[in-house]
Amino acid sequence: EAGDGSSVPRMYVEMLEQPAAVERALRGRLDDRFGTAHLGGLNLDARELRAIRRVKMLGCGSAYYVGQMGAALVEELARVPADAEPASEFRYRNPIIEPDTLYVAVSQSGETIDTLLAVEEIRRKGGRVIGLVNVVGSAIARACDGGIYLHAGPEVAVASTKALTNMYVAFALLALQLGRVRDLSIADGKRLVNALAALPAKIDEVLKLEDRIAEIAGDLAGAESMFFVGRVRGYPVAREGAQKLKEISYRHAEAYQTSELKHGPLALISPDVPSIAIVPDDELTERNVAALHEIAARGGPLVVVTHEGVDLGELDVRRIDVPRLERELDPILLTVPLQLLAFHAAQSLGLDIDKPRNLAKSVTVE
Ligand code: AGP
Repeated sequence: EAGDGSSVPRMYVEMLEQPAAVERALRGRLDDRFGTAHLGGLNLDARELRAIRRVKMLGCGSAYYVGQMGAALVEELARVPADAEPASEFRYRNPIIEPDTLYVAVSQSGETIDTLLAVEEIRRKGGRVIGLVNVVGSAIARACDGGIYLHAGPEVAVASTKALTNMYVAFALLALQLGRVRDLSIADGKRLVNALAALPAKIDEVLKLEDRIAEIAGDLAGAESMFFVGRVRGYPVAREGAQKLKEISYRHAEAYQTSELKHGPLALISPDVPSIAIVPDDELTERNVAALHEIAARGGPLVVVTHEGVDLGELDVRRIDVPRLERELDPILLTVPLQLLAFHAAQSLGLDIDKPRNLAKSVTVE
């Protein structure tokens, strides 16, 4: 209950809990002397970690999108090929289960049936699966060979926020530990350990942008349809942003790779179709800004989630500047404003944010 007697949506409370939730996920797991992470629950020693040739993330909905972010982290830091797939699809295509692949089941509830059945299928065929799970002792946690608990605390709102953030943190820890027994340098390891330690404070800074984001969200809520666009690291961020908006505000939102716009969807851009563009300060900034010009030239309103100092030229955009940290952690700092955006869009429409229509917190039947 808020001080004025009105009730505060759980989603809101859980968004604000993120800095504390991240601190819990990091507690006792960072090693700044050797620039690595210690994840005892993996049940994998250094020799077994070195023998991994591929990493595959499996999850549903937002857990799958964070799995995509996690795959990018593992490739970047550990230089092991990694990808993500919806657990709901994986099992139905008779997947090839490889003994030197590490499978990672990603689930807040630990009860999502599609993810659980994927785990069972992998184990039946002799594969090794670890779980990134929030609920201790849940079905998926029990079915896996080992894992990383998220320690996000109870998450009640259907629209997941803090559990997703902690999934990202768990992936960063996994990538760090995997990287450091391969060829990630101690200097890079330490750089990441320090960045992770600073993450809760940076998330707090993003949460302070709420008023500005709420104002933008109020305007966006009037649009029937919009695009979320991003490239490479920014693409799963766009997917998660679109997902959150759809779930609680019932606006149509489509995520696209910015680079693919000109191959089709640009035809839909008009003054009635806003785009929310993810434009971090990285090696793709220039290419991203060029695409923003294409959108602007067709009259498409633009909201740009970016870093302070990124030069967007003469473009007429509404920008949301997130703090800088290390580029590997950009995706999570770019995701938090999109949670606030979805929340405030839904709130301005007067919707029941914790009980979105047609959705359940966890999907336990096929
Ligand atoms: C997230 O906001 C969604 N409600 C949904 O996509 C969710 O992430 C998905 O159903 C997976 O749930 P899980 O993490 O409990 O397995």
